[in-house]
Amino acid sequence: MTVIAIDGPSGVGKSSVSREVARRWGFGYLDTGAMYRAMVWLCLNRGVTDPGDVVELVRGADLEISTDPDHEEISVDGIDVTAEIRTTEVSENAQLVSSVQDARDELIELQRAIIAAAADGIVVEGRDITTVVAPEAEVRILMIADESVRIARRSKELHGTADEAAVAATRAQVADRDAKDSKTTSFLTAADGVHTLDTTDIDFAQSVEAVMGLVERARV
Ligand code: DC
Repeated sequence: MTVIAIDGPSGVGKSSVSREVARRWGFGYLDTGAMYRAMVWLCLNRGVTDPGDVVELVRGADLEISTDPDHEEISVDGIDVTAEIRTTEVSENAQLVSSVQDARDELIELQRAIIAAAADGIVVEGRDITTVVAPEAEVRILMIADESVRIARRSKELHGTADEAAVAATRAQVADRDAKDSKTTSFLTAADGVHTLDTTDIDFAQSVEAVMGLVERARV
């Protein structure tokens, strides 16, 4: 069993790279951010904001997530929320769940169970995978990129373009997410033994090749 742990800030391209690497190895793929998002959706849906209530809700929720890199699907208590978790409202309220340690612990436990159940291997991406969820992973990578590059990438993803207006609309969102995320997880510097992959000057295909190379070396 090979575990590939990939952390990084939003807009760095880790989801698309992780998914492609999983496909090439025939591995599973776990998007832990989607799990946080699904729990945020549930809190918003129930009008829950108090940290104690958030923990209770997360503990009682039946969260199911696909680990097929070609099939994105996540459900909470039997409700498919695959599309709902990508809304701006959910993104903006992410810290509702990610800032509550007991809620994090609950999700971390579930993530570890999913990793343990993987067959040949699994690519797991998030903010605390290399450090907390799977510090023993065979390959641990921190993907980084200059903020302007991340804004342009996220802009293309959200608006289909990186023109001036779209970039302006995305800039505030990315800065806001970075600020909120770095309060709960430390993902901007690599922990000991974690490879830093700077994708500022390389494209998607080159990023995939770089990760593939690190995995090949680890599997020899
Ligand atoms: O990667 P993403 O944008 O889908 O993540 C959604 C939110 O969840 C983001 O605000 C950070 C948080 N998150 C986290 O705290 N720990 C993780 N392992 C993954 C995501």
